[in-house]
Amino acid sequence: MLKDKNIALYVTGGIAVYKAVDLLRTFIKEGANVRVGMTESATKFVNPLTFQVLSRNEVHIDTFYESTPEHLAHIHISDWADIAVVAPATTNTIAKIAHGIADNFVTSSLVATKAPVFVVPAMNTDMYENQATQANIQTLENRGIKVLEPDTGFLAEGYEGKGRFPDKERILDELESFIIQHSEDLPLKGYKFLVSAGGTEERIDPVRYITNDSSGKTGYAIARAAYYQGADVQLVTTAEHPLPNAIEKIKVSSADEMYQVIDKLFELTDVLVMTAAVADYKVASQSKSKMKKDELADKIVIELEENPDILKAMGNKKDKQFLVGFAAETENLEEYARKKLEKKNLDMIIANDVSREDTGFNVDFNEVIILTKDDKRFDISRQTKNNIARIVVEKIINELNA
Ligand code: C5P
Repeated sequence: MLKDKNIALYVTGGIAVYKAVDLLRTFIKEGANVRVGMTESATKFVNPLTFQVLSRNEVHIDTFYESTPEHLAHIHISDWADIAVVAPATTNTIAKIAHGIADNFVTSSLVATKAPVFVVPAMNTDMYENQATQANIQTLENRGIKVLEPDTGFLAEGYEGKGRFPDKERILDELESFIIQHSEDLPLKGYKFLVSAGGTEERIDPVRYITNDSSGKTGYAIARAAYYQGADVQLVTTAEHPLPNAIEKIKVSSADEMYQVIDKLFELTDVLVMTAAVADYKVASQSKSKMKKDELADKIVIELEENPDILKAMGNKKDKQFLVGFAAETENLEEYARKKLEKKNLDMIIANDVSREDTGFNVDFNEVIILTKDDKRFDISRQTKNNIARIVVEKIINELNA
């Protein structure tokens, strides 16, 4: 999401400055270009050289020091930025931004920027809760500036309180949502995606179940990839992995539960991607209490009955929806996948060979063939499931626009 984004990182003076170093490293790792501006007081906590080395760009501190005569640094950085991040933001800098004060490099640059501004406050609890600080934060929010809520926990003062610099994961999550909100030209804006993930769990008794092999990683990666392209995403899942807050997660366990949720949401869905490994059978009569081993015979027979085929049912009732299925096969990959595409009335199917050990189940890599209803075929070579998900979403976008 942050790849090739130009981020102006403004660092102001509080003890959390050292955490901004890690945030900068994360931005760089994600593929962003970062230029840093610091206030004088921020430089008292961490030497600007640290930010310079990690960003591979000059760090700006003094508005009147112009190393490049061709442009004014504080205006240049604000014009260059796709997004401005103030982290950590002190109560002093928040107050200055709220009142349009431009008395140092950071605040002068922020007054000039047209980029969306994202603020990460970190300060003492009493400073944060002070009425003036709260009124200033409100002023920023009224202006469309995003101000994160600080975390609560152990503060530098030696006691618990609200004011901590939030976890890097939460900052990234909220930043990505904020960027998506400000990107009007994303190809899936206005589309509703419904994605399923994980193997369903079919109860034998309260402590035992049968399931299919599936980590849920591909489903999560597809949900994320669609969200990054601007889609409104709902994920119906049996598996647990990290997910951006803006994606609605609906936890289920059995195929019946998954069916009910998908059936209810289907009418308002534009694209359904069934990544879940739905069990074909469920236990005919579940035991309400734990089956005791010493009361069971040496051999037991568990009667199974057929589960609903969720995708086939949606294929039968679809009107405008675009349906994507997965086919995990151990032989005749393409032939079986194409048959499934037709039988379930799909628009696209992703076929993968699960007999291999280096791709497929419970590893981070996969190699797939994408087939479409109108006989297109794409061979996607072995790569991470995240990359595969991005490619699948790209192909869906192409088909929606065809
Ligand atoms: O028929 P098969 O199970 O191989 O088909 C795989 C596709 O159908 C997957 O997309 C899977 O999520 C979906 N499916 C389903 N309900 C079932 C079985 C499979 O939606 N009961």
